[in-house]
Amino acid sequence: MTQQFDLNNFEGLCRLDSTGMIAALEGLSAQCNQAVCSILKDVELPNIEAISNIVVTGLGGSAIGGDLLRVYTAGRISVPVTVNRDYVLPEFVGPDTLVFAVSYSGNTEETLSAYEEARSRGASVMAITTGGKLGEMASRDGVPLVKVPSGCAPRAATGYLFIPTLGILQRLGMLPDLNAEITGMISYIKELHKTIGPESPREDNVSKQIAHKLYKKIPVIWGTTGTTEVVAQRWKGQINENAKAPAYWNVFPELNHNEIVGFEYPLEILNKIHVIILRDERDHPRVQKRIEITKGIIKDVVDGFTEVWASGDGDLARLFSLIYTGDYASLYLAALYGIDPGPVKVINYLKWELAKE
Ligand code: PA5
Repeated sequence: MTQQFDLNNFEGLCRLDSTGMIAALEGLSAQCNQAVCSILKDVELPNIEAISNIVVTGLGGSAIGGDLLRVYTAGRISVPVTVNRDYVLPEFVGPDTLVFAVSYSGNTEETLSAYEEARSRGASVMAITTGGKLGEMASRDGVPLVKVPSGCAPRAATGYLFIPTLGILQRLGMLPDLNAEITGMISYIKELHKTIGPESPREDNVSKQIAHKLYKKIPVIWGTTGTTEVVAQRWKGQINENAKAPAYWNVFPELNHNEIVGFEYPLEILNKIHVIILRDERDHPRVQKRIEITKGIIKDVVDGFTEVWASGDGDLARLFSLIYTGDYASLYLAALYGIDPGPVKVINYLKWELAKE
């Protein structure tokens, strides 16, 4: 029997990680800082008089920043924010729409197609990318371009891809000055890194403990609509892409109206499920009550459940506290499986096969 990887073995963790995913995650606070201080400096703003809706179009690691924007701005902005993960855009997109076309590589075909469609509908478009075809198209079309540094995986570039959208909306006068909130979040994740980063021992490290709980189990991540929903989705994606393992997510209160009924059969599969419940003390009191009742329903059926609470001051810090904890947990889970978290061969294979036509 092979011995389980020791998560306290820092050198071993780094050896498995050929593309520097750990270093990129360690650099999240610096990345957000760079996004605030320099990336947006010379960016032109679109010339749009009245914005009735905002669409972020992108896929995978380039789309999650859109969900962060949607959730974070829901109570702060008076127009709807929609995330589009498709070749085509919703019918409502038109001259009063601000479209952020986000692709870290700049070569994702769905995003390129949506970009063209946004242009043909007369929407105001901004491109956020390291370059690629999207960068070329934006330069060709005179579309404002937010050029972000290359060199990491899209899912490790959340600071670069998300923070500029906040900055742009702030500059357009659609959001208040978020400087204090963003710098508060940056300091908070720096602090958090000390306890969940790779050099913090398992005994004190919540992310390492979570990875052990998820090892050889089926992770099911539950968040709450309007707050931790985006985190649940992020955890799922990070476990898939970093640990190369299945994971599923859902949200309260909706899951109380369907998914929860499915915890009776088959027991041999249910026994393998480990549920992560993402909690925030700011969630609606009735949702908190639902979570308590739900824990009682699943407790004797599943392998177990773990509650992970948001921490920090300010909504942004709270969201990122959970994202950071899950991102690290997914890297540690990859190490427990003895695999390199960076490469996503299957995604590349799909893109390569599609590019043949
Ligand atoms: O994390 C990943 O590598 C993927 O989810 C990509 O983000 C996704 O395939 C889209 O590519 P890009 O972010 O370059 O547009």
